[in-house]
Amino acid sequence: MSTYQTFSTDEKPLSILDVRDAKNRRKLAMVTAYDTPSARIVDRAGVDMVLVGDSLGMVMLGRKDTLSVTLDEMIHHCRAVVQGIHHALVVADMPFMTYEPGPDTALSNAARLVRESGVRAVKLEGAFLPQIRALVGAGIPVMGHIGLTPQRSAQLGGFKVQGKRAEAARQLLDEAAALEDAGCFAIVLEAIPAPLAAAITARVSVPTIGIGAGADCDGQVLVLHDMLGLYSEFTPRFVKRYAELGTLMEQAVRDYAEEVRSGAFPTPAHGFSMDEEERARLEDRLRETE
Ligand code: KIV
Repeated sequence: MSTYQTFSTDEKPLSILDVRDAKNRRKLAMVTAYDTPSARIVDRAGVDMVLVGDSLGMVMLGRKDTLSVTLDEMIHHCRAVVQGIHHALVVADMPFMTYEPGPDTALSNAARLVRESGVRAVKLEGAFLPQIRALVGAGIPVMGHIGLTPQRSAQLGGFKVQGKRAEAARQLLDEAAALEDAGCFAIVLEAIPAPLAAAITARVSVPTIGIGAGADCDGQVLVLHDMLGLYSEFTPRFVKRYAELGTLMEQAVRDYAEEVRSGAFPTPAHGFSMDEEERARLEDRLRETE
């Protein structure tokens, strides 16, 4: 067992109710993961929630945005993540155009995501209230997401801070209230001014999870590859780099390649020996075939 385990693996998985109860009691830590090894690591590190974000299109699959991520791709990555989690609540992003057309589409796609991967909740970008009501009504917990919603970045004029003007801020306050009313168990606030996030947090009874939304939210979420230095195409200002794993990985692979070329790797300790007797027999055989 790892030395950095912070809770026992037989501890109960975190539930939607635990997340809701955390409001005004303790801050919630959420991070993304997209595969089993990273899911194991973040779960052992003790985060409350793991998001299989459609950011995987950019940080895992090398695409320029999140729009082309498909439901099948999400299911594939969600399955891998669920296998690595004991404690955290796993939430999956519903990809672009898997919910916008209407409540029926949203319901059948969310049902596939939950049934085929084992995630326990889904996240939808924007105030698609009939869709959210349909999912919650069917027993699928929904996390809302407002502010900068990357699936609608073209409409928002790019990856820009939202709600800077009083009218836009008012609209986001209304959207947050509407998401709570529609049944969301938590709401992600992305790239909005800190005072606005604080006002939303004070007015809704469900936890707000901030990303670029200041310190007054009820929790925070970051993209794992951003915080660990594994994605350097673009780093938003609100990201804190907790490690430079990309640099470490590159140096490790450089060292390996150099040792292969110089003959320093592998050493006898990395290989398998042979009984002297068997070796002598092999040499006899080789001589016979010469
Ligand atoms: O896709 C994602 O990783 C997200 C987070 C940035 C909140 O939606």
